[in-house]
Amino acid sequence: MQTIAWQISLVLMAFVAFGFAFVAIRSGRREDDYAPLQKRAYRLRTRLFWVVVLAFAPAMIYTLFELPYGATYASPGSGSVQIVEATGHQWRWELSRDRVVAGQPVEFRVSSADVNHSFGIYDANLHLVAQTQAMPGYINTLRHTFSEEGTYRILCMEYCGLAHHNMLAEIHVGGQ
Ligand code: CUA
Repeated sequence: MQTIAWQISLVLMAFVAFGFAFVAIRSGRREDDYAPLQKRAYRLRTRLFWVVVLAFAPAMIYTLFELPYGATYASPGSGSVQIVEATGHQWRWELSRDRVVAGQPVEFRVSSADVNHSFGIYDANLHLVAQTQAMPGYINTLRHTFSEEGTYRILCMEYCGLAHHNMLAEIHVGGQ
């Protein structure tokens, strides 16, 4: 996956470099009648703007509904709150406990010992179920009630240095 992302980036970078080179080479040439060209370019730009809006607006609206922000405000429900203190370090997660019970609210108190991290909880299919920032000198409270038992993964979602990808932890959600 990373190799593919890298190859796509390389191709895109080549395109940008080509664009710059094209403009640099052409900049020496004089265009006497500039006005019609400018008009055409502006018309194209307006059209491009609306194409981009039409392409991205539905994608944005659709993906907004998938965001798990609502989980933060889910009602606590019955039973006692299980508290998990989570601290981000370069580059690991420190959890006060890694076993909780399904069907009862969990309160994650998330902070960081060094730089900004992002605390993302993923289910077994790597779908994001809840997320908050891990910031130094500040405790973010994230409430989530796991409806399904299983092993969940905590991944750092914000680039925080060389071994950012190593910030993995597991949390086991068991039956009552
Ligand atoms: Cu911590 Cu990325």
